[in-house]
Amino acid sequence: MKILAFESSCDETAAAVVEDGRRVLSSVIHTQVAEHQKYGGVVPEIASRRHTENIIAVCDGALKQAGYTLAEVDAIAVTAAPGLIGAVLVGVNFAKGLAMAMNKPLIPVHHIRGHIAANYIAHPDLKPPFLCLVVSGGHSHIVEVRDYTDFRVIGRTRDDAAGEAFDKAARSMGFSYPGGVQIDKAAKKGDANKYPLPHPTVDGSPYDFSFSGLKTAVINLAHRAEQKGEPLDADSLAASFQKTVCEILTDRFLSAAKAFGYTTLAVAGGVSANSGLREKMEALCRDNGFKLHIPPLSLCGDNAAMIGSQAFFEFLSGNLAGFDLNGRAGMDICENFNENSQKLK
Ligand code: KG4
Ligand code: ZN
Repeated sequence: MKILAFESSCDETAAAVVEDGRRVLSSVIHTQVAEHQKYGGVVPEIASRRHTENIIAVCDGALKQAGYTLAEVDAIAVTAAPGLIGAVLVGVNFAKGLAMAMNKPLIPVHHIRGHIAANYIAHPDLKPPFLCLVVSGGHSHIVEVRDYTDFRVIGRTRDDAAGEAFDKAARSMGFSYPGGVQIDKAAKKGDANKYPLPHPTVDGSPYDFSFSGLKTAVINLAHRAEQKGEPLDADSLAASFQKTVCEILTDRFLSAAKAFGYTTLAVAGGVSANSGLREKMEALCRDNGFKLHIPPLSLCGDNAAMIGSQAFFEFLSGNLAGFDLNGRAGMDICENFNENSQKLK
């Protein structure tokens, strides 16, 4: 089954054709990063406008790259939540129009389920059940993937997501948006033990995260240095911050794996591109006998291939949408779309 998938939940306009959930026939991504960089973060209205301008081009590009016409794909999939609502709606409406015009099934996909599915593309043998650490700009979750469309969250952030903490800490160190990748680069040149930082925990919730205290500690450190006129060793602060975040993430994730009896693990989301996290996770999993799955860098950030992958499994579970499909800014990963709506097919 060939699915034409769209992603427009943040600042990437993307389309892809994916066969049977695992084989990527094409993937086209138009990124707006350079434009949002000027403002130090994503400007929602600009994002929506650029999606509107570019979505037809990425759609055409994905079909051409795959060598298929619109009539030859079997279904249309789209990220319908969560994300910047104006941005999500561009993809949703475009996908609805195509599904209606071509009389194809319409498959709504939860963005975070898509990030997890990037691992199905990269690791053909990976099958649920497994435990997944999802770390993106908006989410930090420890998720039991009980089946392809059956999830249970056993840990989540109480405040900032890991990627958000990276981006905010990076800004205080003087790095440009998006900060995560800048911290990753700088950390390679710094001393990770130079600035000891807190490891905040959440009382009574051993698998939850809290990053706001850590982010504030970094911001305060940078401000104090500035006020005293002392030079800030940004590379070492980046290295210290990255090391601390990676310790917190791996520590809680591996404790959860042990407590819940999982030996098959995966990591997903934009922050899974972090080299420090990848190295630490690989070493710890090797030492503890866990089988680890992480997507290649090309599938860590936002893309439509991951949406096309998850869409296949949503289709098999009967999770289709009707013409009343709406985008949603927020949505729990455990919830299904339009459970009561009329199905297109
Ligand atoms: O998954 P994603 O592309 O978008 C969301 O769904 O949110 O994640 C974006 C986040 C940003 O916060 C970005 O700074 C972070 O992923 N990120 C990284 C790295 N590459 C991207 N964080 C740390 N190290 C990286 N190499
Ligand atoms: Zn994402």
